[in-house]
Amino acid sequence: MKGRKDPLGLRGATRDYRIVYAVVIGLTLGALWAYLRPHGMSTSSTFGYDRLDGSSSKQDGAILSLESKVAMLEREVKRLKVENTELAQLNLKNALLEQEAAAAKKQLKAVSPPVKVGPPGTVKSMRTNQEVHPDESTNPKLSALLKKVAVNGELIVGISNNNVRDMVQIWFESIKRVGVTNYLVVALDDEIASFCQDHDVPVYRRDATISKSQAGTGANHAISGLKFHLLREFLVLGYSILLSDVDIVYLQNPFNHLHRDCDVESMSDGFDNTTAYGYDDVMTDPSMGWSRYAHTMRIWVFNSGLFYIRPTVPSIELLDRVTAKLTKEKAWDQAVFNEELFNPSHPGYEGLHASRRVLDFYLFMNSKVLFKILRKEKDFAEYKPVTIHVNYHPDKYDRMLAIVEYYVKGNTKALQRFPDGSER
Ligand SMILES: *[C@@H]1O[C@H](CO)[C@@H](O)[C@H](O)[C@H]1NC(C)=O
Repeated sequence: MKGRKDPLGLRGATRDYRIVYAVVIGLTLGALWAYLRPHGMSTSSTFGYDRLDGSSSKQDGAILSLESKVAMLEREVKRLKVENTELAQLNLKNALLEQEAAAAKKQLKAVSPPVKVGPPGTVKSMRTNQEVHPDESTNPKLSALLKKVAVNGELIVGISNNNVRDMVQIWFESIKRVGVTNYLVVALDDEIASFCQDHDVPVYRRDATISKSQAGTGANHAISGLKFHLLREFLVLGYSILLSDVDIVYLQNPFNHLHRDCDVESMSDGFDNTTAYGYDDVMTDPSMGWSRYAHTMRIWVFNSGLFYIRPTVPSIELLDRVTAKLTKEKAWDQAVFNEELFNPSHPGYEGLHASRRVLDFYLFMNSKVLFKILRKEKDFAEYKPVTIHVNYHPDKYDRMLAIVEYYVKGNTKALQRFPDGSER
């Protein structure tokens, strides 16, 4: 190591000068290059890259796909814009519906504010539903007639054709006898119309038709729906109607014996307290052992030949339902009337929400009660019915005459010759 020593450092100094010299030249050349080609390095490197990466057609393809992508995005934006307007419209609709619903709720609350519940026994639900607003424009002719005939907005209505003229006569004579003036015959033909006019009976001439549109169905093949449809014309005008078949004898003024607290109050086909007013009919299924008793709700049907119906929404809905059903299928009108009144809502069916009352079966009597039961009772003479409907017997005219004989003319033997039921 010693022998290699440079005591003066001359060799080292010479080498250092050479390095400094080379660095200065390098820097100068670099500066010169940068001055001549300011973008030199990057440009050359781009070319280099392109050359390495391949052809220029590939570059065009990239640009094209970029263009189609942009076009596609533009289309997408357009579609979204359309969708957005649709959504905005839907939102608006939705907002409107929500507003309507809120307004309706408010109105409902105003009409029927929440109820403060009193002590047990004082809480009663609504029985009498609100009446409809009369619409005279639906039938100006009938409206004018009813203004003359009705008393306190109510009247008896009987529907008749000339085939039952004799019974109609007993019917209206009995009504006149008890002092009722607010009654009307709906005459389905000219003969019965002039017969009524000859006897000073208020009459409304009406053909036995239900137009297709009025029936609410496509078909028009059932006349049995006519009664309920006709009744609607009266209710829409705002009148309460005691609908009456003509095989009924009036012995007292019926309007003094109505309650007017329900949509429908009807006479019953029942013949005692249980059948007329309802009972728990227990059947037995022994195979069930402990739970062999099956409880069923029973009530004898409302008689659709004599019922009082108030001009309310449920009443009109009832008439419409019965009419619609009877125009569509062959069915007994009284059965349909009862089904619609009593069947509760169930899967696939929405029940009618009408209030109903059974009239006292001793006052609004059927002919089974009279002939099978009452006339044999010791205190028979003490019962004074309001009406007697000869619904259980085919010899209607004879029994109507006998009822008049007994109750009006005082012939105590007038009812004796009749059997309890019909003789087959
Ligand atoms: C039937 O009901 C009435 C009142 O609802 C009552 O006065 C009468 O005693 C009852 N008759 C029978 C046989 O239970």
